[in-house]
Amino acid sequence: MEEAMVRKRVALLISGRGSNMTALIGAAKQPGYPAEIALVLSNRPEAHGLHRAAAEGLATAVVDHTGFGGNREAFERAVQAHLEAHRIDIICLAGFMRLFTPSFVSQWSGRMLNIHPALLPSFKGLRTHQRALEAGVKIHGATVHFVVGEVDSGPIVAQAAVPVLDEDTPETLAARVLAAELRLYPLALGLVASGKSSFSSHGTVRNDTAVAPAAQLIVPDPH
Ligand code: GRF
Repeated sequence: MEEAMVRKRVALLISGRGSNMTALIGAAKQPGYPAEIALVLSNRPEAHGLHRAAAEGLATAVVDHTGFGGNREAFERAVQAHLEAHRIDIICLAGFMRLFTPSFVSQWSGRMLNIHPALLPSFKGLRTHQRALEAGVKIHGATVHFVVGEVDSGPIVAQAAVPVLDEDTPETLAARVLAAELRLYPLALGLVASGKSSFSSHGTVRNDTAVAPAAQLIVPDPH
């Protein structure tokens, strides 16, 4: 007899628009997806994503960082209380614009994911699309990684690459990367939640899933 799948309980942490959040909510509705969205938490009361999450009938919470007078530990204790109340297994940062203390990060080690709009380890930090254009790279993209103490640095779970066009602006490039992000994050969360992602002895992530070894993205197109 097949064992019933126990879906991981996921919290999505947002600060704004919430398009990655929406993609993850959509994925979690698919039968057989190994995670359910048990909480959407924002540090900004006005985050657009909150309305969308509530309209989906999901539990939402606001922990407004401005109410903590810069006391990060107190802010994190309030966040942690919501996570515990909803029995969260995995956190997905989805456009969450606050940095966590090393203590919070180590508490969630191996259980907290982030999406970064660049092919890490290139272009850590902000304004990634502008900086990619300035550097003249021909391929850009997005990365889902585990969160560690150093910003945008944890073990990489999955990446998506897109071409950079000569006529791109930061906005057109951002839109192309975002379209890839919306496919990438559900894939990466699915791998982690199902236990298909594991750590190698070097601390890198191995994914027990198929990869097309012949896949190539060459820019400009050689054909
Ligand atoms: C995304 O580009 C994500 O990679 C970055 O912040 C943006 C969030 O967008 N971390 P949204 O809130 O998911 O629409």
